[in-house]
Amino acid sequence: MTGKWSKPISVAEMYGDWDYDAAVDLLSRSLDPRPSLSILDTLGSVGVGPEDTVLDIGGRDGRYSLMMAQRFGCRVMSVDPVDANVEDGLRAVAEHEHGHLVGIRPGTIEQIPAETDSIDVVFSRDMLGHVEDLDAGLAECARVLVPGGAMLVYDVFATDLMEPLEAERLYADLALVPERMSVSGFEDAVGRAGFGIESLDVIGSEWYEASQDDGSAPNYTLQVSRLRRAKAQMLQELGEGPYRVMYSNALWSIYIMIGKLECRLYVLRSGSV
Ligand SMILES: C[S@@+](CC[C@H](N)C(=O)[O-])C[C@H]1O[C@@H](n2cnc3c(N)ncnc32)[C@H](O)[C@@H]1O
Repeated sequence: MTGKWSKPISVAEMYGDWDYDAAVDLLSRSLDPRPSLSILDTLGSVGVGPEDTVLDIGGRDGRYSLMMAQRFGCRVMSVDPVDANVEDGLRAVAEHEHGHLVGIRPGTIEQIPAETDSIDVVFSRDMLGHVEDLDAGLAECARVLVPGGAMLVYDVFATDLMEPLEAERLYADLALVPERMSVSGFEDAVGRAGFGIESLDVIGSEWYEASQDDGSAPNYTLQVSRLRRAKAQMLQELGEGPYRVMYSNALWSIYIMIGKLECRLYVLRSGSV
């Protein structure tokens, strides 16, 4: 469904005088979507440079921290609560040419291991969905940011195409807090923490389209089909947890591409209310 049309398509219209092959051809052509790394252009637009310190909150293994250090020459602190991520991050930093600019620390957004007013920019990519107490997390970001500092937030939100049962299953299997999937819930919390919204880029499905265009993403529909058809075998080989995560991660990506989920990139400014 692409929306509610005024009348159904008739059989005559469906099989009538139009060129199916030409339509397929049209849809085979790329719309030149921006790739996901365009988030670094947005970061550049807030003016990050070698004199700045960036906090990469929920930075996993520091992969974006290293990209930021390499591109902008800034110092970066990646903070993540999962031990395995911290260990991977320490290894990645030790091996990377710009690793001396990147610190890897265990911690959470609710208790950031950084001094008050010590961070020029907070970079939060695809992590707020896991946060139980968003007010506490955003208050911590405001605390560590210098007055007037910027916070970049990339996150994924539910649209009105998402059905309740789909949502319930998806969020449970991806460790997501259901309340975090609401745009208005997020924007209200942003205001309560004293941030203003400086800009909003509704990415929608664009980055996912780009990763399909360039072949860097897997075929998520095929993954779901295999996980369903060979469920017993996959469960045995993967174990229940990874099975559920792989299944729901593939669905997540499909839902983004069919508009049940929407990707958004915000630039917030602290102290602007
Ligand atoms: C989808 S990954 C995104 C990782 C990275 N930002 C990226 O874009 O590649 C979500 C990350 O958030 C981290 N995370 C979960 N809860 C968190 C919390 N309360 N505070 C900080 N990070 C958290 C997870 O450990 C994980 O590394």
